[in-house]
Amino acid sequence: MDKPDLYSKYSDLQRSDNLFVLDNYLDVSGWKAEDAVLDVGSGDGKFLIENLYPRLPENIGKLVGSDCSEIMVNFAKERYSVDEVEFAQLDISSQELPPNFENGFDHIFSFYTLHWVREQRQTYDNMYKILKPGGDMLLTFLASNGIYDIYLNMAKNKRWKPYSKKEYIAPFHGMKNPEKQLEKLLKKSGFKCNVCKVENRLFAFRNLDSFRKSVIAVNPIIPNLPPEDVSDYMDDYVKEARGLTKITIENMNNNAEESVSVDYKLFVVHATKPETVG
Ligand SMILES: C[S@@+](CC[C@H](N)C(=O)[O-])C[C@H]1O[C@@H](n2cnc3c(N)ncnc32)[C@H](O)[C@@H]1O
Repeated sequence: MDKPDLYSKYSDLQRSDNLFVLDNYLDVSGWKAEDAVLDVGSGDGKFLIENLYPRLPENIGKLVGSDCSEIMVNFAKERYSVDEVEFAQLDISSQELPPNFENGFDHIFSFYTLHWVREQRQTYDNMYKILKPGGDMLLTFLASNGIYDIYLNMAKNKRWKPYSKKEYIAPFHGMKNPEKQLEKLLKKSGFKCNVCKVENRLFAFRNLDSFRKSVIAVNPIIPNLPPEDVSDYMDDYVKEARGLTKITIENMNNNAEESVSVDYKLFVVHATKPETVG
């Protein structure tokens, strides 16, 4: 992702899902004073600073936002810097972790990030290494979404095929029993799963323009297109969206504005690294 400014203005869907997860799954009652907290994929930093940070206990030791993208990290540092929060560059799926991350945190959060990551097993192995024994993590990311069917359909179009890559499809999209597959993976990395479920979610965009901007903010194909092709790409994207049952684009009140609603599946994971290993 390379459009932090647009993302910070057009990420209401992600924010609403992240808040749903915090409201329903965050429990800080067992936290200790000076606990260290890592947010994986903090992106523009907005959700971390405006929504997560205020919900954490006041006596936390450190709070680090991390992201693989230098552009995102620099934007977060500039726009959302507060004294108590650090931002650092980290690819959570890398083969080798920076030494200061290993065994360095009591809690990991990750919001709307892990559907971008192909190397799922390496990622959970890394999260396990990052956590101290007894540490826990709360994750949410897309299990499946119509946008990936749009990518697959547009890859059949000669004009967009050269820009389409398999790695843009979320790793669990279209899988049967995705929660079982994910739980298996987490257990292989050593985690005890307290929650590993798929939530059915529905989001209504204000109008078609806000849907288009929200797509442009996160779409991985658009940065590779010649700028003069972006408008045609988005027109074809919306055409494809109209053909999907999971996305509804309609003119509700007979005014000029069409509304867009999407339904999709979201993972919620709460998992613990056991106190004693082995
Ligand atoms: C949609 S943003 C989410 C930002 C924020 N957490 C939120 O919920 O609004 C996803 C972020 O994940 C980051 N990301 C993708 N792959 C990653 C990886 N392997 N390691 C760390 N961050 C990654 C992207 O750079 C992007 O900033």
